[in-house]
Amino acid sequence: MKTNRRNFIKAAGIAGTGVVTGGMASCAQKETPAAEIKPQIWDISENKGSQVFNMSGYAAPKLDVVRVGYIGIGGRGMAAVKRMALLEGVEIKALSDLLPERVKEAQEYLKKRGMPEPKVYADGSQELWKEMCEKEDLDLIYIATPRDLHPSMCVYAMESGAHAATEIPAARKMDECWQLVETSEKTKKHCSMIENCVYDFWELLILNMVRQGFFGEIVHVDAAYIANQINTNLRKDLEWRTREFINRDGNIYPTHGLGPACQVLNINRGDRMDFMVSVSSADFTMGKEIEKRAQEDDYYKQFIGQWKLGNVNTSVIKTVNGKTIKLQYNVGNPRPGTRVFWVVGTEGIAKKQPFPSRISKGGGWVSEEELTALQEKYTPPIIKIVGDMAKKVGGHGGMDFLMQWRLIDCLRNGLPLDMDCYDAAAWSSIVPLSEWCVANNSVPVRIPDFTRGGYKTNAPVDVEMARGGGNTGIKQIIRFDDDYF
Ligand SMILES: NC(=O)c1ccc[n+]([C@@H]2O[C@H](COP(=O)([O-])OP(=O)(O)OC[C@H]3O[C@@H](n4cnc5c(N)ncnc54)[C@H](O)[C@@H]3O)[C@@H](O)[C@H]2O)c1
Repeated sequence: MKTNRRNFIKAAGIAGTGVVTGGMASCAQKETPAAEIKPQIWDISENKGSQVFNMSGYAAPKLDVVRVGYIGIGGRGMAAVKRMALLEGVEIKALSDLLPERVKEAQEYLKKRGMPEPKVYADGSQELWKEMCEKEDLDLIYIATPRDLHPSMCVYAMESGAHAATEIPAARKMDECWQLVETSEKTKKHCSMIENCVYDFWELLILNMVRQGFFGEIVHVDAAYIANQINTNLRKDLEWRTREFINRDGNIYPTHGLGPACQVLNINRGDRMDFMVSVSSADFTMGKEIEKRAQEDDYYKQFIGQWKLGNVNTSVIKTVNGKTIKLQYNVGNPRPGTRVFWVVGTEGIAKKQPFPSRISKGGGWVSEEELTALQEKYTPPIIKIVGDMAKKVGGHGGMDFLMQWRLIDCLRNGLPLDMDCYDAAAWSSIVPLSEWCVANNSVPVRIPDFTRGGYKTNAPVDVEMARGGGNTGIKQIIRFDDDYF
């Protein structure tokens, strides 16, 4: 049996899509016996030349006080404002939202806590946030808007002279991923995708143990974002969320599972994601749910026949150093939530969920007593410093507070951030790459090297947050009292 490039494209169902670019060069150019054909890795993102400046490990000048502006004060943004208000060395200078009432609520909260009144940018116009970026002297712009707005807001924030911290994912298209990297390198401003799951207590414990060699060499991570969001996906007051799913299929929200996996595997710092395949089941629930709701509520009629996201998406990623990640995404089935997070090493493994979380060294699970002893030994300093407070403050069990504390601590102490523009781009690129892959019979697709070679020499994240050093000098005082809630 013989094949050639044209036949391969036809078989893969890619012909005529006009999407494949760089991968063409690596396709078989002449007839080759089937046994000698190595299946192609398709490349849908041209390499964008050379790095301008390496933002990995970059420490921006110390900031005595971090002046923060917020864009998006909805569910997530409002909670972030409240947590930020607890931190010493932070001034919330400006707030922007489409809806004036949301900004007013945040403003009143800050006033009640005796903080200076922030400037308000909220008159219903879509682009007023730009004025906030231009007019205010801000060190950090914190973005918690619908997902399609993240990349343009990050770019604008950096170009106006501030660091950008954005909700997840940072981008939804390949070009947007590159724009984040290029702008961060050009402006030397951080572009940090604030992935809170990196800061969960178990994930930090395991990261610390990984760094200290407890599990030997890490070979594989099982990761996921699995949650029963049938209702949330269709909430009328969160229409942007429903629209996120319309006519899309793939893993459109990958970073909760992927972020912690990349940190233990030193992705972009010694290793990098090389290629992936992604497969989706069909949708068996959400389309039916929309039809059911439409019988009683005309609002849902607009979405009939448009839900394409399969119930379960599974992606498998291989790194250039030969490691693997299995990443699942499932938000349309009635089931308990889990992020799985099994870390498989040459000498042991850790599993987060299903609970109880467990550790194994050389075979069976360690006993509960041994687990407690390990936790005592390996609990990282960040948890010792702010763990109790984080649990009191809450936010997904405290990880949201740990994340914000760490962000501010790094900026005030001139430390590199734990998540940089390369992480934002690489982790988010799974969104467009998985969509492309699912649409093209799940053929392997290249994950670009956003570090453009830098990963070979970039140092691992200074998990001082995990191992640390307590050498940052400033221990932030937290303004916390019962009034917080
Ligand atoms: N990390 C997590 O655990 C987590 C959890 C929930 C949501 N999120 C992310 O947070 C983001 C926000 O989600 P949410 O649930 O808070 O949504 P939301 O709808 O409650 O809030 C979004 C806010 O952005 C505002 N907005 C929209 N367009 C704007 C514009 N042009 N200018 C200024 N403001 C604008 C809206 O008015 C709204 O107040 C999303 O990206 C979501 O993916 C993350």
